[in-house]
Parts: sequence; C-alpha cells; structure tokens
Amino acid sequence: MRILVLGSGAREHAIILALRSEDAEHAIFAAPGNAGIASDAHLVDLDPNDPEAVTAFAGLEAIDLVVIGPEAPLVAGVADALRVRGIPVFGPGKAAAQLEGSKTFAKRVMDAAGVPTGRAVRAVDSAAVAAALDEFGAPYVVKADGLASGKGVIVTSDRAAAVGHAAAFLASGAVLVEEFLDGPEVSLFFLSDGDTVRPLSPAQDYKRLLDGDEGPNTGGMGAYSPLPWLAERFGGEDEFVDLVTREIAEPVIRQLDSEGTPFIGLLYAGLILTDTGVKVIEFNARFGDPETQVVLPRLVDPLSQLLLAAASGTLESFPRPAFADATAVAVVLASEGYPVAPVTGYRLDGTDDAAEVDDVHLAHAATARTDGGLVTTGGRVLSVVALGTTFREARDRAYEAIELIELTGGQYRTDIAARVVEA
Ligand code: AMP
Ligand code: GLY
Repeated sequence: MRILVLGSGAREHAIILALRSEDAEHAIFAAPGNAGIASDAHLVDLDPNDPEAVTAFAGLEAIDLVVIGPEAPLVAGVADALRVRGIPVFGPGKAAAQLEGSKTFAKRVMDAAGVPTGRAVRAVDSAAVAAALDEFGAPYVVKADGLASGKGVIVTSDRAAAVGHAAAFLASGAVLVEEFLDGPEVSLFFLSDGDTVRPLSPAQDYKRLLDGDEGPNTGGMGAYSPLPWLAERFGGEDEFVDLVTREIAEPVIRQLDSEGTPFIGLLYAGLILTDTGVKVIEFNARFGDPETQVVLPRLVDPLSQLLLAAASGTLESFPRPAFADATAVAVVLASEGYPVAPVTGYRLDGTDDAAEVDDVHLAHAATARTDGGLVTTGGRVLSVVALGTTFREARDRAYEAIELIELTGGQYRTDIAARVVEA
C-alpha cells in the first residue's frame, strides 16, 4: 500500500513503525516527519496543514491512504479536501474535528448523546469566570475553549491561579469552568468509519511534568498499556472497554452522524473513573501522544487494514482488534524548559545505544539530523518505548535505555508505570 502520514511527532513515528512491522513492502511517505521517521519513511517537503498541497501530492503519488496524525491538519480541513477528491483518509473533517477543537461543541454533543461528563460553564469575561469558580468551588478547573496542545487546562486549589489562567485565554476567546472530577484517568481510542466503532486497548497517560503528578500539565510525559487494575473495578479490561464503547463512543458517533458530520478517524476518549461512574474529560479527534506509542506495538491486527477500513466505511466487517498480552511502557524525554519555554538546538547523543537495549525502540519527535549528529528541535524530543512480559521488565528496560541518552538539561519522569509494578 502507498501511505502518506501527516505529522512530525513520536505518535506519527509509532504509527509508521506499526505499518512497517506489519508489511515491510508498504511505501510510506511522511510530511514533515523528523530525524527518526526519516529511517522508516520517505520524508516529503510539504505543509501538512495545506489542503491543496496534500491533495495534490496524494493524487500525484497515487496514495492509497492518508493518515492524519495531529489536530492542526484536521482543523485546517485537509481531510475534507482529500475526501472531495475520493482519496481515502483516516481523520475527520473540519466539522467533526470540533469535537476536539471546541470544548463547547464537545459538551453540546455529549449532552445531546446522553454521555456522562463534568458540568461546565462557558465564560467570556472575568465576572462570569469568578461566578462559576465560586459555584463549583475548589479544586478549580479552567480550560481554554480552543486548541492549546494540552496546555490550556489548569487544575488548582489556588483561586488566584485559576483567575489568572482564565484571564490569559479570555483575551483571545472563551474559557470553560468545569466541575472537578476525581479518580484515575484512562485514555481509550476508537476507530470509527462514521457509523461502526472498534475499540483499541486502554492506556494511561502521565500529564504532569514531574514525578508524583506535580508541576504543570504537558502534552504527556509517559504512558503504559494495558491497565491490569481495570479488572478490580470492572471485572476485566474487556468489560470496561465494552461499557465505554456502548455508553460513550457509540452514542457520540451516532449523534455526529445524525447531525450530518460523520466522524471518520480516531475518537480519543479521555476518561475519569469517578465513584459515580466513568465520565468524559475530553475528546480528541486523533491518536494520543504518548499513548499511541504503547498501544500500537501491542496491536496484533494489521494497522493499515483497520485504518483503510475506517477511511472507506467498511469497519463493520472487522472484528474488534486483538492485542498481545505484552506490557508496554513509554517514557518521554523532554527539553530543558519544557513545557513553558523549551530550549532547543542541543545535541542528542546515545540514541543508538538506547535502541539496542532488549525490546526497546525509540519514537522520535523533535529531532533533526545535522552533520554533527542529532539535535533537538522542540519540547518533547522522543519517547523511549519498551515491551516486556511484565511491567517490571518493560519499565526496567525503558529506564535502562533512557539513561544511555545524553541531552543537556533533558527532563523525564522516573515514576512512569511505577505503581502498576508495585501492584
Ligand atoms: P484536557 O485538556 O481537558 O484533557 O485536560 C488536561 C488534564 O487536566 C486532564 O487529563 C486531567 O488530568 C485534568 N482535568 C481536566 N478536566 C478535569 C476535571 N473536570 N476534573 C479533574 N481534572 C481534570
Ligand atoms: N496524551 C494526551 C494527548 O494526546 O492529548
């Protein structure tokens, strides 16, 4: 198959590695990609957010399937343009992508579909913010209404910090003040062809920068999959996945279809398991990063077939995707100053040694190759991904490997999957 993957993160590298391991014969193109992706795909000098440019390239190169990694091309209407030309694309159109791009849109759809989520108030000025903060009480949750790469949310007991966060986003739009939801978080992905929904395996993401879930929210500092502790609460992972499919994913996909905005692509449900049931914190319209890095290596079925089936409306003929029992742990290496002001352009050494640790591979994000070797180009530099038969094994391998990488000022959490090992 001839496949074009849009994006440049570790998520896109993970997608490409999954496609490669399933069939070494695929012709894979990536735009813009990164230094790691360059070893596994042909890099294309193309603006992934330009619908005309992407469509022209896909036509010229007889691409069979376009896979959209990040949210920006979705919001820019790249999937719409490809669909008009009859090119199969995994990723929703602009209208359905609002499920991620607009928290207000997502809340309305959930409401209409009867899907459980936190109560929220949309505020456009500081007086409305203050009133909503007082109504819900501490801890306070304030979210930017639009896209903010995972950095638009604050959860704090400090009222002044909540007010300050709101003020920063009110200048350019609205904010949502939300009820605080308490409980463990789970990321669960669904493939959707607009009608049929197929779940993948759940993962846990670590959103905060520092060990012990301290520090600011980030795009994600690590992940593991599967989640053995779901068995205690739900009887098993399958029971949990069935419940969320039935009560959350299917109603939302049906609702969007009935509104004339079918969702074709990846529905990412960010969930909190509260004492009063599973609730949605957010939806994303794309694969999660770093969760994808731990979910896809466990996928048994060919990814290209599943994505093509979703893109072409034939997902119904596929059973639920199967996953290996293997454990997977991803630890993200981030630049100094991330997430506030990442310092970039530093040398990155030791990646070859890291990748030689048993059952370890690297998913590159912000890397570029220069004559002198690899250099960093952004906040989250790469994910070290390790597989094992137990979480202890996978975790030990991931940390053995990341310690071999040299990056001045590099940051990573040391407690990824620690609790699941203890348990
Ligand atoms: P979001 O961008 O909506 O996924 O929010 C980022 C993170 O903030 C989530 O993963 C949660 O850890 C936290 N968060 C968001 N909304 C809530 C909420 N209503 N209650 C508690 N934590 C929340
Ligand atoms: N890991 C969080 C996200 O992809 O949004």
